[in-house]
Amino acid sequence: MLKKENSQFVEISNLVKEYPNPYGDDFRVVEDFNLKIKAGEFISLIGHSGCGKSTVLTMLAGLNEISGGGIIVGNKEIDGPAPDRAVVFQAPCLMPWMSAFDNVMLGVKNVYPHVSKQERIQIVEYALSVVGLGDEMKKYPREMSGGMQQRVGIARAIALQPRVLLLDEPFGRLDSLTRMELQDVIIEILAKEKLTAMIVTHDVDEAVFMADRCVMMSNGPKAGVGEILEIDFPRPRNRKEVFDDPNFFACREHLLAFLEQRSHIKGDPRVFANGKTLGFMDKEVVEELRQKHEIV
Ligand SMILES: Nc1ncnc2c1ncn2[C@@H]1O[C@H](COP(=O)(O)OP(=O)(O)OP(=O)(O)O)[C@@H](O)[C@H]1O
Ligand SMILES: [Mg+2]
Repeated sequence: MLKKENSQFVEISNLVKEYPNPYGDDFRVVEDFNLKIKAGEFISLIGHSGCGKSTVLTMLAGLNEISGGGIIVGNKEIDGPAPDRAVVFQAPCLMPWMSAFDNVMLGVKNVYPHVSKQERIQIVEYALSVVGLGDEMKKYPREMSGGMQQRVGIARAIALQPRVLLLDEPFGRLDSLTRMELQDVIIEILAKEKLTAMIVTHDVDEAVFMADRCVMMSNGPKAGVGEILEIDFPRPRNRKEVFDDPNFFACREHLLAFLEQRSHIKGDPRVFANGKTLGFMDKEVVEELRQKHEIV
């Protein structure tokens, strides 16, 4: 029998985020964002820069306060960060004075203080070996390439034994070869550990190759889910086969067309006011702000 949570593991309902803008007005960046994610499903989230992708991801991580609506993970409404959700950001932010092993151990000690020392060591060693750093555990960040450092960042997340893995442009700073290697590392981990995951990316190839569904966000303010595209290449996915498949090209074109269409309705690429960035906005919103605050 399927467990109940197997149908919808994550439920994001009418999610809202308001940030104060430089004038002190509450500014609704995200409004009515709705998404249900099945257990073990991999979602990619794309959209124009500044539309609110990281905002949604960090709210799901519990690191960013929710202004309205709610998020349920495994039948429980979230009210802050918890080890069932781990995040990998673009920069791994490792402690420079600690080895790869100690960087990963830091989080494990925090989250599993009651677990025996031997078990903690096993968890850290396992996480580092899964990301391919089994022989480099003693290395310090300065002795590692950017790709290796990001592997430590991924190991640190995996070691918390999360149910949901959240990735915010995790390969954004890496060269394309390393990027592909790490995409494969993540795909393998998700399959092995049966994790549910969401990746924010600007790379449409990555969004299609990695995910089961690609969620396209509309432009902010009041950004929500614009469209959802099912990506049904069988798993395990073979990169060459997927990239050679005419359907891959069609999916990729679909995402590009969505982004292209949205860039037409976008106003100024980035609106600056009083030296502060207001982000990307629709023309009418920019005009309203300009009139209200008499800016040029
Ligand atoms: N702490 C904050 N205070 C005020 N406004 C914020 C804050 N964080 C984000 N914003 C604004 O919210 C909007 C969405 O930001 P967010 O970082 O979620 O976008 P994004 O889609 O992740 O962009 P990118 O692709 O460039 O990373 C932007 O207009 C941004 O300026
Ligand atoms: Mg972002």
